[in-house]
Formats: sequence, structure tokens, C-alpha cells
Amino acid sequence: MKKTFYVTTPIYYVNSHPHLGHLYTTIVADTVARYKRQRGFDTFFLTGTDEHGQNIERAAAAAGLPVKQHVDNYVAEFQEAFARFHLDHEHSGYDFWIRTTSDIHKAGASELWRRVRDNGYIYKGQYEGWYCVGCNEFKPENETKPGPDGVPICLQHERPLDKVAEESYFFKLSEFQDKLLAHYEKYPDFIRPEVRRNEMLSFVKSGLNDLSVSRVSVKWGIPVPDDPQHTMYVWFDALSNYITAMGFGNDHFGGEVHFKKYWPADLQLVGKDILRFHTVYWPAFLMAAGVELPKTVFAHGMWLSGGRKMSKTIGNVIDLDVLSKHFTRDAVRYFCLREMVFGQDGDFTYEALLGRVNSDLAEGLGNLSSRTLTMVRNYCGGEVPALGQAASDELSAQAAEVGEAVTRAGAEFDQAFDAYSFSRGLEAVWAAIARVDKFISDAKPWDLAKAEEKRGSLDLVLYTAVEALRHFAVLLAPVLPESAQAIWEQLGESSNVRDVAPSTLVWGGREGGTQIGEVKPIFPRLDKKKIMEEIKQDEAASQSARAQENITQAAPTEAAAAANASASTSSVTEAAPGVAYIGIEDFLKVELRVAQVLTAERVPKADKLLRLTVDVGEPQPRQLLAGIAQYYEPEKLIGRKIIVVANLAPRKLRGFESNGMLLAASVGEEGRPVLAGFLEDVPNGAKLK
Ligand code: MSP
Repeated sequence: MKKTFYVTTPIYYVNSHPHLGHLYTTIVADTVARYKRQRGFDTFFLTGTDEHGQNIERAAAAAGLPVKQHVDNYVAEFQEAFARFHLDHEHSGYDFWIRTTSDIHKAGASELWRRVRDNGYIYKGQYEGWYCVGCNEFKPENETKPGPDGVPICLQHERPLDKVAEESYFFKLSEFQDKLLAHYEKYPDFIRPEVRRNEMLSFVKSGLNDLSVSRVSVKWGIPVPDDPQHTMYVWFDALSNYITAMGFGNDHFGGEVHFKKYWPADLQLVGKDILRFHTVYWPAFLMAAGVELPKTVFAHGMWLSGGRKMSKTIGNVIDLDVLSKHFTRDAVRYFCLREMVFGQDGDFTYEALLGRVNSDLAEGLGNLSSRTLTMVRNYCGGEVPALGQAASDELSAQAAEVGEAVTRAGAEFDQAFDAYSFSRGLEAVWAAIARVDKFISDAKPWDLAKAEEKRGSLDLVLYTAVEALRHFAVLLAPVLPESAQAIWEQLGESSNVRDVAPSTLVWGGREGGTQIGEVKPIFPRLDKKKIMEEIKQDEAASQSARAQENITQAAPTEAAAAANASASTSSVTEAAPGVAYIGIEDFLKVELRVAQVLTAERVPKADKLLRLTVDVGEPQPRQLLAGIAQYYEPEKLIGRKIIVVANLAPRKLRGFESNGMLLAASVGEEGRPVLAGFLEDVPNGAKLK
């Protein structure tokens, strides 16, 4: 029987537009699926959408839409975005798109609940605590900071938590501490990479509390079996998608038989931000239900933009419309896999993407392909030369060495991809591309072509280059599906390169005397300056559109009123592209005051922080902490007039309470702070407006 391989992505929340972070996981999963299929595995690739929970219920209300319509709209948007990048079923991408609002999913999740419950791991109790709808998680105190009116704020989402005090079902997570640790010990590959495994080990070792797994105050979700007053905790619901999609607890794809064929999953890809759910809760639910555990959960790093995680909340996301307008699908795939060391964080910049496209794709693979095939066309009448005539000994030795280097790169590529080290695998191939390039440049076929007696040498150079390209096309098919196929066809091959198993590749396997196809450029060089300018304009336009949408979503009636007002008066100026205007009332919420630094000192063990006391014109000085220690000597600040935001909620940093924030310009790439101040003398406490 064929070996199977089952790979999953997380299912995406339908409350934010798809961005590079979402695309990334799906591209990685798609590449792995193609890689395994090409190597003969019966592969299943699952992705989908996470559509329940309070956050989505609220987003729909804010948009003024019935929840079902709201989620349908977003699902369509995600599916369209993934299709644009050819990650959909039609383009040999994912095999199935699971929706948590589907009947099969609801049936499967309910079955999982029943099994866990019937095995004695669920009990009813009372929950009291603070819940973050962004994280979909109850928050312990150390993951919050104090907010106004005693309502704590989620550190991750920077927004106030909801107080929850209600009847709840609990899952006996505390009973799984030893079982989980034993599993991690026995299967070191269960959590990867190593650094994440260690984090989870210490998290579990520090003790596990039982987990609240139902809510009575949330309606948008799956009712708890036999107690429909309760709605399943959204992570219990969402995590079960990996099995419900495959026929667990339903008759989808033939139900149990299909499920057993593919489960346990071979690879569950997740971002490191959701690792705990996948390596603590998920395996505990499965153990409790008596279902096997996935083989590997691999946590990848985050794409950063401007040094911070790309996210809707921060608003620094890379827009897929802009990305797809300026770059080919293959270029984006290549960049994602090559630039980010899989498992680590990576910074996304368009400059870096343009750099990779031009150096690795246009000048590297593209140039090798077009120069080789153009020479075959010009010097050999479009026929791959047959190796009959003698070549010089030195050249024969070099050609043999190139053959070995390419074959070795193939083995290294597979080894690296089997270990999910995508960038390493690509580096191996690109080193071989450079080797072949050098071989051609040293042999100078354009000179050899001038002398008939050098025909044997010319044939050998071009045959070797063609053979190398043939190998590269096969190897790179999972990463660059369209370009690999294009090179394949230009080589004169008629099959589909994704069906060619690399194990069947033999050096020298291409028959001589056969025609190549039509030669066309594969990766045109991009004009960096021009494209950067266009991107800046596109980004500004799309940010402005999003900002407008956020205003509409946050307060549909106010937005409608504002729209009416601007229609009836000419004094309201329309926002220029890239500018999200605020009203004066928004600005007035921020209390800016003149302050004078009274004392300043470094904070022990925090090399960026200074602790200041400042006079803000109040009876008592205030303490505030500022991340400027690397740029300002504390003693030089004393007496200086600065500007502070005086009504910012107090916040604790390194054990000190900070009561306000000073204003500084952020300069250069490193964001060097330069304090704001005044030329004239101003009294402490004076208000800025
Ligand atoms: N719905 C949950 C997952 C449930 S799985 C049973 C969720 N959804 S999400 O839409 O917020 O995130 C989905 C995936 O996108 C996560 O793996 C997350 O790590 C990934 N990314 C979101 N932003 C990202 C970056 N900036 N960079 C890389 N991946 C990121 O969490």
C-alpha cells in the first residue's frame, strides 16, 4: 500500500483580511504536500477557517451583518486570496477546506466531546476570571496589565478583558501533565523545533490547571452535546477540525475508513503563537478521547514588519493584493521558503523580496535557463546535443564533476526538506546553479562554437547544462510549480514535471538528438526603484481603505452620520490616500502636558529603560519609565523640559509603575528616540492642544 502523508495548516480566523502571515503557513504546507506527492506519498493537505466565538460574533455585529453572512464573506475572501496564489484544490493545492460552521465539523466535534466526557474527563463547575476575545483564552494575571477602572488589559491584544463568572464545563487537563511529559520524552519529534519543545516542556512541568471548555454567554458556536445551554469553548471546537475534516464522527469522505487512512497527521504546521493550544490542549483532548496523537507539530516563526509581528491589530500587515500585483506566485513562494529560516522569525521587506527575485531567480536560475537554451537553439539547431564526438580531457573531468555536484545537491535538497529545513535545501540547489554557471563561463561555449574541431567540447558543455536544468526543474517543482513546468517544457519535455519522481532522475538520462521547446524568459528582472515607488502608492491606498473600513466597523452608525455630514458640507475634506483622519474629539482624548525631569536613573537589568520622576504641574511628581537608556545619559536629562502623555493608563515595567509616556521622534531604521521639547520657556503642566 502507498505510504500516506497528512499535512495541516491552522484554520484561519475570519475576522481579519488574509495577509502574508496566513499565506505563509499555507505556502509551506502546499510545498510540503507537493514535495511528498512527487515522492510517491498519498498526500492529504488540509486548510480552512475558524468561524466561531465571541470575537467573530462581535465583529459581525460591528459590521452590521448577520454572523453567518459575515463569516461567509470572509471565507470567500480567504479562498479567493489562496486561489490567486494557486493554493486551491483546482491548482493541486489543498485537498479540502474545512469550515467550523459546517455540519460535518459540528458532528465530529460533538463526537469528540462525547468521547472525552464519557471517558470521565469533563465535569461541570463555576468559572470566574478574565477572558480575552482576541486570544480566545482566559488570561492569568501575569499575562495582563492593569487598565482603567480595574479592568485588566491583554498584553498581546492591548485591549480590555471581559469578566466572566458563569457555570462552565471543565476539562481535567491537570490529569495529563505526566502523560504529556511522557509523550514528549518518548517522541522527541512531537514538538519541533527543539527550542519550542523546551518551552512547552517547561510550561507543562510548571503545572496544569483544569481548563474551562464551555461558555453559556456565547451563542455563536457548537452546542455542548446534551446540554445546549452551553457552547463549546472555541479552541475545543477549532482544534477538532483536523480530525472532523477527515471523517471522524461523521460520514465525510466515507467517514472512519478515510480517517484511519490518514490519521494521525504527519505534520501539523502552526505559528509559534498558537503552540500551546496544539501541543498541550490538543494532545490532551485526543488522549482523553482515546485517539492517536499527531506525529509532529512544527511551530514556525513570525513574519515581522518594522521589527514587530505582522498583525491586524498593529496594522503593519503585508497586503496580499499589493503582493500579488507586483510579484509572481513563484517569486513569493521562493522568498517565503528561502528568506525565513523555518522555525525562526523573519523580517519582511519589499526590498529584500525584490533583491531575491533579481539575484536568485532572474540572474540565477532564470539566466542559467535562458542562456543554456538560447545556445542550444543557436549553436545546435534547437536539438539537445548527443555526446558522440570527443571533448577535451579537462572539460570531460569538469563536466563529470558538475554532474556529481548536481546529483549531490539533489540528495542534500531531499535531506533538508525531509527535515523541514527549506532554506537549507534551496541553498544547496542554488550552490549547484552557481557551479553550473561557472562551468559555462569557464568553458566559453560561444568561443567553442566558432571552431568546428571543438564541436565535441561544445556539445558536452551544452548537454551538461541542459541535464543540470532538467534536474533543477524536477527538484524545484514543489517550490516553483509554474516556473519549473515552464523550464521543463522549454527543455522539450512533454510530461508534467510534478509527476516526475526525483528518484527516477539519472545523470545523463536526457537523450541527445531531441528537440527543445520554445525559449522564453522565465523570471524577468524587476526595476527595483520603479516597483518600490508603485508599491508605496498601492500600500498607502490600501491602508486608507482599511482604515476607512475599521471606522465603519467600529461604529457603523457614527460612520454613516459622518458620511452624510461630508456629503452635505463642503468643509469636510476627504482623506488623502494613505491618511486615516481622526476627528478633533479623538485628538482631545489625549492629554499632552509639559513636564520637567526631576530625577533620572537606569533600571537594573533593563538596559533600555530609564526611570524618571517628572513635574507635570501636579502637587506630587510622577514616575515614568522610558525606553531611551541607550541614547540618553540619565544625568543629562535632569532639568530638561519634555512632553508627556499624562492620561495614559498606568503600566508596570520591571516592577516599577509608569504613569505616562514621554514623546520622542523615532529616527532612522533603528528608531532612535529624539525627545520632543520647546525653544521658549514653558511652565510645567501647560497643556498642548
Ligand atoms: N484560528 C486560530 C487557529 C486555530 S487552529 C485550530 C488562529 N487563527 S489566526 O488567523 O489568527 O492565525 C492563523 C495562523 O496564521 C497562525 O499559525 C499564526 O501564527 C499565523 N500568522 C498570523 N500572523 C503571522 C505572522 N505575522 N507571521 C507568520 N505567521 C502568522 O490563530
